[in-house]
Amino acid sequence: MNKKIALVTGITGQDGYYLSKLLLEKGYEVYGMYRRNSMDINERLNNMDKRINFIDGDLTDMASLIRVLHKIKPDEVYNLAAQSFVHESWTQPVSTSDITALGVLRMLEAIKSTNPKIKFYQASSSEMFGKVYKIPQDEETLFYPRSPYGCSKVYGFNITRNYRDSYDMFACSGILFNHESPKRGRQFVTRKITNSVAKIKLGLLDVFELGNLDAKRDWGFAGDFVEAMWLILQQENPDDYVIATNEAHSVREFVEESFNTIDMPITWEGEGIDEVGKHNDKIVVKINPEFYRPAEVDTLLGDYSKANKNLGWEPRTKFKDLVKMMVEADLKEEESNKK
Ligand code: NAP
Ligand code: GDD
Repeated sequence: MNKKIALVTGITGQDGYYLSKLLLEKGYEVYGMYRRNSMDINERLNNMDKRINFIDGDLTDMASLIRVLHKIKPDEVYNLAAQSFVHESWTQPVSTSDITALGVLRMLEAIKSTNPKIKFYQASSSEMFGKVYKIPQDEETLFYPRSPYGCSKVYGFNITRNYRDSYDMFACSGILFNHESPKRGRQFVTRKITNSVAKIKLGLLDVFELGNLDAKRDWGFAGDFVEAMWLILQQENPDDYVIATNEAHSVREFVEESFNTIDMPITWEGEGIDEVGKHNDKIVVKINPEFYRPAEVDTLLGDYSKANKNLGWEPRTKFKDLVKMMVEADLKEEESNKK
């Protein structure tokens, strides 16, 4: 039997790593789309699985998407590429919208004009719920995005559903809540914390700065979440699914748990921008208002009942295990950097 062919955009990102690993395990021929930049491509993709076929393309360039689809003739497209850092979406709102919103439309149009039978997965986001109308959030919850990124993801979600309704395409969204891993970018709060805590443990850093400690997120493990992406495209009918853990923790709790992992428990003192986290009277965490957002998403909590019922999916990794996995990976990485 011929191998199924999958195209994964955003191959250099966290989810690209875990999804391509899963698809290879399932026997797919995997193509990973990357965009060109000034860094040497071999150097950039050097650490990635050698079984992935890399192909250049950019979500801002529709001609490149048509070329990619013509060339590799995929059965399934997983659209993971995006400007995904919420904070940056205020400083670069236009390019964020071009990539994260219109990029989805370009890919859908490219699929429609090359082979509308290709199954399409869109990486939709819990950021769409923003200033939440309901707790917990499920597939019926209205959207109230709070950032240019969130607004772009709402467009991506709607245009995906619209192409499904208008052209009978197998186009689906996974509405994924925050998912993390040792492959998470260092700008995102979880990896920033685990990396800083590892450096403090190794004597490479004294203190690090954060923004809003009281924001709550429903944090899961990326390795569990990519399984849901694949399952969504294996169903008989296209549909949209919330993927979450149904457990929320604050940034503050994430910091505390990370320090507990290295046996350096901390206590908090002060309030607002003067609050500090201390271990044995030594300040290890400070607040910097630079990391606050113009409009915050205070709390996210997902109800994944539909995914559980229809896909048989459930998260496997618990919060404490996720934190431990990330801190330990950062300790290992920082130790080897020291050598
Ligand atoms: P990530 O690590 O930031 O990866 C984003 C990827 O998109 C990178 O490979 C990046 O390539 C690529 N990209 C950016 N602009 C592009 C363009 N114009 N053309 C082609 N590729 C482009 O994100 P992630 O955490 O893996 O998330 C994957 C997807 O899920 C994203 O769409 C994100 O918005 C969404 N999502 C993530 C979460 C989460 O908690 N992780 C939750 C919900 C939804 P470069 O290396 O060239 O920058
Ligand atoms: N990045 C960052 N850095 N966030 C901080 C900091 C800091 O120093 N201090 C506090 N935070 C708070 C943010 O204000 C936010 O409330 C929370 O930590 C999480 O921030 P991020 O880790 O940057 O993630 P996000 O929730 O904004 O967005 C991520 O999850 C979305 C799904 O809900 C991204 O992966 C998005 O692409 C994804 O769609």
